[in-house]
Amino acid sequence: MARVVVTHPLPPGSLEALASHEVVAPQPGEAIAGDRLRAELAQAEGLVCMLTDRVDRALLGAAPRLRVVANVAVGYDNIDLVAAAERGVAVCNTPGVLDETTADLAFALLLAASRRLWEAETDVRAGRWSGFGFMQYLGQDVHGKTLGIVGYGRIGRAVARRARGFSMEALHHARRPTGEPGYVADLDDLLARSDVVSLHVPLTAETRHLMDGRRLALLRPTAVLVNTSRGQVVDEEALALALEQGRLFAAGLDVYEHEPSVHPRLLAAPHTVLLPHVGSATVATRTAMARMAAEAVRAVLAGEMPPNLVPPTV
Ligand code: DGY
Repeated sequence: MARVVVTHPLPPGSLEALASHEVVAPQPGEAIAGDRLRAELAQAEGLVCMLTDRVDRALLGAAPRLRVVANVAVGYDNIDLVAAAERGVAVCNTPGVLDETTADLAFALLLAASRRLWEAETDVRAGRWSGFGFMQYLGQDVHGKTLGIVGYGRIGRAVARRARGFSMEALHHARRPTGEPGYVADLDDLLARSDVVSLHVPLTAETRHLMDGRRLALLRPTAVLVNTSRGQVVDEEALALALEQGRLFAAGLDVYEHEPSVHPRLLAAPHTVLLPHVGSATVATRTAMARMAAEAVRAVLAGEMPPNLVPPTV
């Protein structure tokens, strides 16, 4: 029986795959972090963690028996893959099970930002709505517009399917040609041609500040930017400035450079919808993610190769 540490509470029943192991999990509303996490990891062979847990070289050094880290997320930029590979620790993520849910949220942001739903709803609640106004809350149409999808993996494709249902033309950019209709080889070209841009790239050294001041300046003044990937893909300072100066119409953001802090200028920027990293937050999807992570730990500890193993980085 191996010891498996789970850093955060998970949906009921999602750790069934680990029934034959000793599972150390926090009480509801708590987390296992800091010194307690290091102490628990001293004897642990498995770790089930969140994107908010920094699994760096130092933490891995405190876990001499660790064989597998399962991140309950599709992104794994919180894990030092090189240090894990050097120690022979397998790293797993949760691809596939959150694509449609995250694409739904990206589309919700696309609609909310384009149609200024946050401002309108906030005014109604605050008693500031004085009645129908022909010139009030004028947004941007979504139908008939061009959606530029940056990153064309599973989630990007799921967003493209939704775009067709909303009578949008979907273009996409990826590092390698996809051979599919709508592929645009040059990112700058895609940005200049799009009415709405939705980001679906993982956070890597290459994608950090992919949307910097120069690229944001390529967007149309009527454009809408949606980010459900990772906050660091966008230079928030540059985005806030562009919104303040009306150099793009709106932004719908679910992720931030320094979560849970949100850049103060973004909080005050016009036409901005801000969500607290809820892309995959449905009961069914979060349960599926947690189950997938637990199953990956079971598999590695049983000497099997889980399908969601992140390729080791050396
Ligand atoms: C992920 O999985 O990486 C998301 O950011 C959270 O679901």
